Amino acid sequence: MSQQQWNTVDDYLNSLLVPADEALRAALRDIEAAGLPRISVAPNQGKLLHLLARIQGARRILEIGTLGGYSTIWLGRALPADGRLISLEANASYAEIARANLARAGLADRTEVRVGPALDSLARLIADGAEPFDLVFIDADKPNNPHYLERALELTRPGSLIVGDNVVRDGDVVDAGSTDPSIRGTRRFLELLAENPKLSATALQTVGVKGYDGFALARVIA
Ligand code: SAH
Ligand code: DHB
Ligand code: MG
Repeated sequence: MSQQQWNTVDDYLNSLLVPADEALRAALRDIEAAGLPRISVAPNQGKLLHLLARIQGARRILEIGTLGGYSTIWLGRALPADGRLISLEANASYAEIARANLARAGLADRTEVRVGPALDSLARLIADGAEPFDLVFIDADKPNNPHYLERALELTRPGSLIVGDNVVRDGDVVDAGSTDPSIRGTRRFLELLAENPKLSATALQTVGVKGYDGFALARVIA
């Protein structure tokens, strides 16, 4: 099976089940035009995040890693009118693009992009006694994933859902001796999911326009 086949199948599935509207199209166009890395979730992955948030009945969503706000639009669209999404982004110019994309999608009233290292923003949320989030999407710098998980556990409640992107990385995740900080962070993240009796977790391999990768899903059970 080749990348070309994965692309063809993703194109088929997306055209059938995940038609783009003007706000999504414009967001991807502006992300591309601004030269941001081409690492937004794929359309069918964005829709998966949207469906998970809906199934979860999420009223409060936390995203770690905004980029241009493409995944943020999918998650934000799952919120009720009085819902709230906070997305954390280190790069101020990416955050500006994301805010414009969210405004064009009609989500400015319920979404907020906070600029700065996510660990700082998370510490602030915890210090401020933020209400628990119903869903946390972890998709920033992978070496920090173990820390993001620990902070996410302080910002959630029993029943919350934690989703992690990019946990397979072309299969590199099985390399126990890897010195790549992203692989080490991902492996520690998965180990923490496994070890924590307060979490019920799984992980799935995915193929498609984003290559061969995967998602981790964890429900806070206590
Ligand atoms: N969730 C987005 C993609 C995020 S890409 C989508 O699917 O549409 C990862 C993002 O994390 C990048 O924008 C990068 O700037 C940001 N990032 C990397 N390190 C970070 C850090 N320490 N704190 C906050 N954001 C960070
Ligand atoms: C990369 C980061 C991502 O969040 C992603 O979905 C794909 C690739 C990267 O840094 O290479
Ligand atoms: Mg990602």
